[in-house]
Amino acid sequence: MKETLEQIRREALAALSETKTAADLEALRVRYLGKKGELTALLKQMGRLSAEERPVMGQLANEVREALTEALARQQTVLEAAALHARLEAETLDVTIPGKPVEVGHKHPMYTVLDEIKDIFIGMGFDILDGPEIEQAEYNFTKLNAPEDHPSRDWTDTFYLTEDSSVLLRSQTSPMQIRAMETRELPIRIISPGRVYRKDEVDATHSPMFHQIEGLVVDKGITMADLKGTLNTVIRQIYGPDTQTRFRPHHFPFTEPSCEVDIQCHKCGGKGCPTCKGEGWIEVLGAGMVHPKVLRNCNVDPDVYSGFAFGFGLERLALGQFKISDMRLIFENDVRFLSQF
Ligand code: PHE
Repeated sequence: MKETLEQIRREALAALSETKTAADLEALRVRYLGKKGELTALLKQMGRLSAEERPVMGQLANEVREALTEALARQQTVLEAAALHARLEAETLDVTIPGKPVEVGHKHPMYTVLDEIKDIFIGMGFDILDGPEIEQAEYNFTKLNAPEDHPSRDWTDTFYLTEDSSVLLRSQTSPMQIRAMETRELPIRIISPGRVYRKDEVDATHSPMFHQIEGLVVDKGITMADLKGTLNTVIRQIYGPDTQTRFRPHHFPFTEPSCEVDIQCHKCGGKGCPTCKGEGWIEVLGAGMVHPKVLRNCNVDPDVYSGFAFGFGLERLALGQFKISDMRLIFENDVRFLSQF
C-alpha cells in the first residue's frame, strides 16, 4: 500500500503540473480525489490493514491527499493567471492607432443657395409651390402666350415626349404661373423652384438640365414698381446690400413689359473681367408684368388684377455666390469638389 500511495503521489503531481486548462485540472481532481477516485478507493481499503500499519498508512494517505489538494490549488492559480494573461493579450486595444474617419455628408451647395432663397421669399409672404417636370405643351407654351412658331417650341430646342408635341419635359418653370392661377385663390404670391430641360450642349455655362425658380405675384394694383422693389430686395439679400442692379428691356411672350435683370459684376465691380465676359454686368433673371392674355387664359380679369413674374437660374446664383467658374462642377457630384462648401 505504501508503494501504491507513493506512486499515486508521483503520478498525480506530474500530471497536475502538465495541465493546461481548468477542465484538465478538474478531470485530475475527480480521478484522484473524487468519490470514486484512486486515492479514495485506496483509503477504503484501510480497514484491512493490521492495527500497527493502519496509523502509519493513514498518516501517509493524509499527506498524499494534502499534497494533491495543495498542488491542485496551486495549479489552479497558475492556470487562471495564464488564462487572464491570454485574454488581456488578445483583447489589447492599441489606442495609438489612428481611427477610421467617418465621412459625413452635407448639403449640396446649390441646395444651400435654394434654401436661402426660399427663406428670403417666405419672409416676404410667398408660398413655395412644387410642379411637374413632365408638362403639357399647353401649359409650357400655349397658355403662356407663346405663338405656334416660337423658336423655343422647336424639336431642336425642347424634349418632346409624344409625336404630336403635346407632352414635353418642361423647358422653364413658367407653366407654374398658369398652374398657380388655376388652382389658387387671388391674391397670389408664390415661388416654384424645380428642374427644367433644354436641348443645350454641355459647357461651362450650359446643361440640358438645370434649375429655375419661378415667381408670381397677382393682386389688385400690382405695378412695375412692386416688381423692381421685390427683386432689388431679394438680390441685395443674396449678393449684399450694396449690389447695383440694372433692369434691361427684353421680350418674353408671357410678360409685357418684360425685362432682364443684371447685377454689377461681383468679381470686378463693373470694370469688366472674364467672369462677366468684359461686360461689367451679369444677367441673373428674367421678369416682367404678367401679360393680360396670360391672365385671361387663367380666368383672371386683367382690368381688375395685375401681376409680375420672374425666373431665376439657380445654378447661376450658386456659381456667383460660391465663385464657382464651371457649371459642370455643380452636376458632377465629385466629393472632392462638394466637400469644400
Ligand atoms: N421663363 C423665362 C426663361 O426661362 C424666365 C421668365 C420667367 C421671364 C418669368 C419672365 C417671367 O427664360
